[in-house]
Amino acid sequence: MSRLIVVSNRVASITEGKSSAGGLVVGVLDALRGMGGIWLGWNGEIETDPVQPPLTHSEKNIDFITVALTQREYDQYYRGFSNGVLWPTFHYRIDLSRYIRRDYSGYRAVNRRFAQILTSSIASDDIIWVHDYHLIPFGQACRSLGIKNKIGFFLHIPFPSPSVLRTIPSHQELVESMCAYDLVGFQTQSDVQAFIDYTTRHLGAIHIGDTVRLGDRSIKVGAYPIGIQPEQIRTLSKESRHSKPLDALREGLQHRKLIVSVDRLDYSKGLIERFDAFECLLESSPQHRGKVTLVQIAPPSRQDVQGYRQIRRQLESTAGRINGKWTELSWTPIRYMNRSYERTLLMSFFRVSQVGLVTPLRDGMNLVAKEYVASQPAEDPGVLVLSEFAGAAAEMHEGALMVNPYDVQGMADSLDRALNMPLEERKQRYEHLMGILKKNNLSVWRDRFLNDLGS
Ligand code: ADP
Ligand code: G6P
Repeated sequence: MSRLIVVSNRVASITEGKSSAGGLVVGVLDALRGMGGIWLGWNGEIETDPVQPPLTHSEKNIDFITVALTQREYDQYYRGFSNGVLWPTFHYRIDLSRYIRRDYSGYRAVNRRFAQILTSSIASDDIIWVHDYHLIPFGQACRSLGIKNKIGFFLHIPFPSPSVLRTIPSHQELVESMCAYDLVGFQTQSDVQAFIDYTTRHLGAIHIGDTVRLGDRSIKVGAYPIGIQPEQIRTLSKESRHSKPLDALREGLQHRKLIVSVDRLDYSKGLIERFDAFECLLESSPQHRGKVTLVQIAPPSRQDVQGYRQIRRQLESTAGRINGKWTELSWTPIRYMNRSYERTLLMSFFRVSQVGLVTPLRDGMNLVAKEYVASQPAEDPGVLVLSEFAGAAAEMHEGALMVNPYDVQGMADSLDRALNMPLEERKQRYEHLMGILKKNNLSVWRDRFLNDLGS
């Protein structure tokens, strides 16, 4: 059987246990644990000496090859182009995008360096699976080094519509480089469609069935929505039921209802609108005052990128204003925490809550939405309130209460409905959603992608 080589910017061995890993690391780690392989990526460190060789170590059946970035690489590739241009643009925030030509050059250079590192570890029948926006030109860099292996690419974040993508000055070169892969996977069918639209309209590609043809290259494209391991999450959610933090949460709530939200502190997550919606609920439905608490767990992310510092300040001021207005001696409406928790604890918080509030303005998938449902007790499940702009909406729109995160009053109404939902309806929705989570689980995601890449 062929060996699997995974390449991603963020690698689990370094980030696990540290603040919020994000969906990529959580998903890829579970997928790789099941079948073993090599994982190549950044070790999370910035190094002054650029010529350090890659570090290798093994954990169970995964062999890690990790490299440090120089300060300049970090600034140009990670902070500059990946998180200063690609992330905001692909999440439709072109107002936050800051294109600098030398950042783009640095981005391509790091992709070449990673490809170079790969050449010394690769065997001819290895299958290479590249992940996410940091590494779009990685496949092309491999091809120019003579690597002929099967190489697949999976984008964890949305693929924007062509008119938005074209705001990136190097859009054409960037998308052309995606055509060096054998398979390009996206989270949803609408991401696939946006890619086909761009390649046919702006590159003159031909689209036939599940293939895009550009010159002499044929690229298979498809939607591979990333899943979770629902049974494992359900087990995790019960593990911490007697832990001190969970007891402290319960004690603080004093039998009040709990709405819970967990996100990296990112402007794409719709946090301000969410807090506004919660305030709107208190304003328009006075019966909830003093009776319900919103717990928002939001560990800081990418704090050296300006847009992230800005959203943090805005959120602090919004939370402060709302709490200042509504807090009573015995009740604080919003508990806002910039920290991360162990996975088992997070899942146990989900389990004791009545509502999971997941309202991104744009999101590739949003694994939290899936984890929330999988953590619920079948006999008394909480309700998922979900944004229609999360990739997860494509699978979960029938079981979740769907909201438009730009409609603050609409979100408040849905919160009211979720808090009052009869047990029978909650159970029906939960069972429907669990059926979907089990059917499209993490192994299905991995196996479908790898089978399509191999065939
Ligand atoms: P993103 O990939 O944009 O961060 P996702 O919702 O897809 O968003 O994935 C986030 C992952 O990180 C989930 O598995 C979630 O449980 C985890 N996570 C998010 N916030 C925290 C936190 N505060 N502490 C621990 N894990 C977190
Ligand atoms: C999202 C991205 C991942 C990234 C994660 C955490 O999930 O899709 O590629 O690893 O956020 O962000 P960070 O910048 O800390 O790696």
